[in-house]
Amino acid sequence: MNILEIADKKLQKQKISMVTCYDFTSAQIVSETDIDMVLVGDSAAMTMHGEKTTINCSISMMALHTRSVARGCPQKFIVADLPFLSFRKGKSEFISSCERLLKAGAHAVKLEGALGNLEFIKHAVESGIPVMGHLGLTPQFYHILGGFKVQGRDENSKKQILEQAKLLEEAGCFSLVLECVPKELAHKVTQSLKIPTIGIGAGSGTDGQVLVFQDLLGLGSGKKLKFVRSYFDGRVAFKKALESYHKDVVSSDFPNHNEEF
Ligand code: KIV
Repeated sequence: MNILEIADKKLQKQKISMVTCYDFTSAQIVSETDIDMVLVGDSAAMTMHGEKTTINCSISMMALHTRSVARGCPQKFIVADLPFLSFRKGKSEFISSCERLLKAGAHAVKLEGALGNLEFIKHAVESGIPVMGHLGLTPQFYHILGGFKVQGRDENSKKQILEQAKLLEEAGCFSLVLECVPKELAHKVTQSLKIPTIGIGAGSGTDGQVLVFQDLLGLGSGKKLKFVRSYFDGRVAFKKALESYHKDVVSSDFPNHNEEF
């Protein structure tokens, strides 16, 4: 998969699947599936490091996770998130952050928001770096948004998201994530853009969907979010396996004669 094939999927009206991934083992599993794209999301700060938000994610953290994922699924199209503020400290630091992610194995970067980013996006694209946009619930704006809340409910916010989506397309983004917005708005944005939209909590009217790996596999500990579909009860299955191992060790059933030298 490359950005031309991703663009073609929209023209052919074929849906695009994307999943987040943060480590080598999970990436190897994803590599054995037909999933189209992999996102090394800055949600790594939460899913892999236990942070409450993505704000403490750093470029070193992202480069490390991106390298592990790239080793595990080198043939997948990998998008890596530019973490909080890594693209707001001037062009030179922005390009250095992109460079770290691409040299770690990403094929594209993703950044949140539009205003203040458009010149940087143009510069990245002119420098050979594909950029994915991200609008709606942009988790790096947690403190401005007052929490993780559905966006684009009122007329003004709908208008802003639609306008900013067009600005991101004009700036050269090859695709756009729409997170937690009403399905009608996501559909309208999707219809008004040539580039594919990838939704999460944005209904079925987008060109593709992305889910967080841990949510998809039921590994999380929190309350299930409305927009998540879990395809596996991973947390229960993992706990059962771990408890069985513990029981076998305590009862001296493990290791048995086939499992020792
Ligand atoms: O970091 C992330 O996981 C994301 C997705 C929720 C789109 O940005």
